[in-house]
Amino acid sequence: MSTGHFYADGDIAEIYRWFAAEAAPSSPTWRAVCDWVARTGAVADRLAALPGMKRQPQLFLAALRRLDAPLTPGPALADWVAEHWDELERTILGHSTQTNEVGRCAVHLPLLAGLADDAGPIALVEVGSSAGLCLLPDAYAYRYRFADRPDLVVGSGTPVIPCRIGGATPAEAAYATPAIAWRCGIDTAPLDPTDPEVAAWLRALIWPGQQEREDRLAGALATAAGLPPVPVITGDALEALPDAVTEARRHADTVVVMHTATLSYVSRDRRARFGALVGGLGARWVSCEGERVVPEVRDRLPAAPYAGPPCFVLALDGRPLARVGQHGGWIDWLTEAAADRTVGPA
Ligand SMILES: C[S@@+](CC[C@H](N)C(=O)[O-])C[C@H]1O[C@@H](n2cnc3c(N)ncnc32)[C@H](O)[C@@H]1O
Repeated sequence: MSTGHFYADGDIAEIYRWFAAEAAPSSPTWRAVCDWVARTGAVADRLAALPGMKRQPQLFLAALRRLDAPLTPGPALADWVAEHWDELERTILGHSTQTNEVGRCAVHLPLLAGLADDAGPIALVEVGSSAGLCLLPDAYAYRYRFADRPDLVVGSGTPVIPCRIGGATPAEAAYATPAIAWRCGIDTAPLDPTDPEVAAWLRALIWPGQQEREDRLAGALATAAGLPPVPVITGDALEALPDAVTEARRHADTVVVMHTATLSYVSRDRRARFGALVGGLGARWVSCEGERVVPEVRDRLPAAPYAGPPCFVLALDGRPLARVGQHGGWIDWLTEAAADRTVGPA
């Protein structure tokens, strides 16, 4: 039965070839492993037999790291996979791709600060909050780098998150710490940031060789441990949202519903309903997802082909405002004309 998701229904070699290209700019190791999986029938066949979304490459790759597999493609890795398959499969089935990347806070921050500026403190609801680390943007510090002016440091917490800025910052954005009156997460499987097993899995989800991401994660986990726990609703994005927004509205006039790297895990027909749901609840909508994930955003992207590195698109109320690094790191603001342009069906 089709679930309408590439990971669940697609050909494994095709999925892994696609992911190799996505990973290539940031992780030569994962690019090589993914290309190898696509060519190695014995491994691809095992992965193809996994159920539904458990076929996503990120999960297999994180399980390899969590179990200290050799990460050089070739016969030794094929033997290791065969010998450790039971343990690998248990790890894959027992976990989800819940990468909690605080680097993304640097790309959310300008829109959250802009919304808070306009209307006083915001109440923040993050859909797909994982361990809740992106719900604490006001607890970290940021170093924004511009082409034409000195760096700007915002906040004073830990970690300090770097972010390169390109293009002209739109009126909706502000480089400042947002005032957040209340916050909550929604996740089908929330993680406890104080649990060492959770910390180990979050570390395994980071791509090999990305020490700065591991350091950021460690800093954010330490910061979170010193703060009161953030409330999290265990539930599905669409089903839990109305109650979460109703509660949020008791704490602030402006409720912001935010999500990053989450709607891609929701089936296409359900994610097509998400924007209308948020709008109907009277909340502002900050989305940060792959460029084809959110239909409203995809249909309003500039028509010119994009030739840059793999990216997410940062959007406010369905209007694309910037291309950004998938794990944070950079924001390229779209020009106003481009961000306004509608190229999809009217
Ligand atoms: C890749 S993680 C991203 C976490 C966080 N947003 C970040 O950017 O660091 C995606 C999260 O979405 C959650 N998730 C997936 N499908 C969901 C759904 N239908 N409703 C709520 N959460 C969901 C997963 O459990 C996971 O914690």
